[in-house]
Amino acid sequence: MTKNSEYKAWRVHEKNGEYTGEEETCHIADLPENEVLIRVNHSSLNYKDALSASGNKGVTRNYPHTPGIDAAGEVMESGTDSPAIGAKVVVTGYDLGMNTAGGFGQYIRVPAHWCVEMPVGWDTRTAMVYGTAGLTAGLSVTKLLKMGAAPEQGKVAVTGASGAVGSVAVEILSKIGFHVVAVSGKPGLADTLKQLGASEVVGREAISPDKKPLRKPLFANAVDTVGGTPLAELLKQILPGGSVSCCGLVAGAQLETTVLPFILRGVNLLGVDSVEIPLDDKKVVWKKLAGEWACSRTEKTARDIGRRDLDAALKAFLKGESSGKIVLDHRL
Ligand SMILES: NC(=O)c1ccc[n+]([C@@H]2O[C@H](COP(=O)([O-])OP(=O)(O)OC[C@H]3O[C@@H](n4cnc5c(N)ncnc54)[C@H](OP(=O)(O)O)[C@@H]3O)[C@@H](O)[C@H]2O)c1
Repeated sequence: MTKNSEYKAWRVHEKNGEYTGEEETCHIADLPENEVLIRVNHSSLNYKDALSASGNKGVTRNYPHTPGIDAAGEVMESGTDSPAIGAKVVVTGYDLGMNTAGGFGQYIRVPAHWCVEMPVGWDTRTAMVYGTAGLTAGLSVTKLLKMGAAPEQGKVAVTGASGAVGSVAVEILSKIGFHVVAVSGKPGLADTLKQLGASEVVGREAISPDKKPLRKPLFANAVDTVGGTPLAELLKQILPGGSVSCCGLVAGAQLETTVLPFILRGVNLLGVDSVEIPLDDKKVVWKKLAGEWACSRTEKTARDIGRRDLDAALKAFLKGESSGKIVLDHRL
């Protein structure tokens, strides 16, 4: 591997306010000056990649840019003992794919402290079946459990249930014994959600806008992946003492609520960040996902795509039409 070595990447260019992505030949020398050079075997698709690819300056400031907030591969060069050359590693979050060239390229160069050693029993594809979305689902469930959420308290709702985060959350929660109510805008995927373990599938109208400041409490706890008005309505329907973990904004970043669910029912709103948290916190969840929380159905049904398929797959995210987990395989 020399500085002149070439690799392929799916790069996004800005021209007259339009953003288009295509495969390009890049040079190792153009990667940022970090300690660890990784040959990326697999990446994973996330809503944030779709934002980066469509010119969202809150995610990516400068173009041309290689998105991909997730990567799993092999260390080819390392300036430290850990990770060593030859180690298989997972990188998610921090600045990867935002303003640092990401996993939609065959190579990345990142700081050593972004790299997690591959969990025992996983290959690079399995790691990317989960990716940031799986990690976020695992963190969301962890937060609920830390607040004392338990199956006997009642139903747990998952919003954006067919999405990348939501579908993994459905499978984990059902695996550990919860009665999961999947809230989804895709009636055609009801059977798929039931196969993931949902006990009930309801439409988004179950949490559509209602003028009342509090509604009949239906759910003991919830994992919310969409934010905005659906989150505000969900908070009104949580049983006293229940918790809602919140990680997403596909339905809006604005949250208009009253304090009533909090002060009359003691509801807890729990923020989930998978990006900047310490690596040790990520490792705890990776270990669980590779062990007791392994999602066999998600692993079986994840779709593999090549770089040429990225454009269409990312556009589907922006339209809310994507579902399940999508893995980018650089060999396809
Ligand atoms: N905090 C973090 O660290 C973190 C990490 C990962 C992701 N996220 C965020 O979590 C969210 C979900 O990410 P994802 O990768 O799972 O995205 P995704 O695959 O696109 O899933 C989002 C799902 O939300 C539902 N949805 C879409 N538009 C909606 C709307 N306008 N109103 C209500 N529901 C809508 C859809 O599911 P249904 O059709 O089934 O309803 C969609 O599949 C994103 O906002 C992402 O940025 C945050």
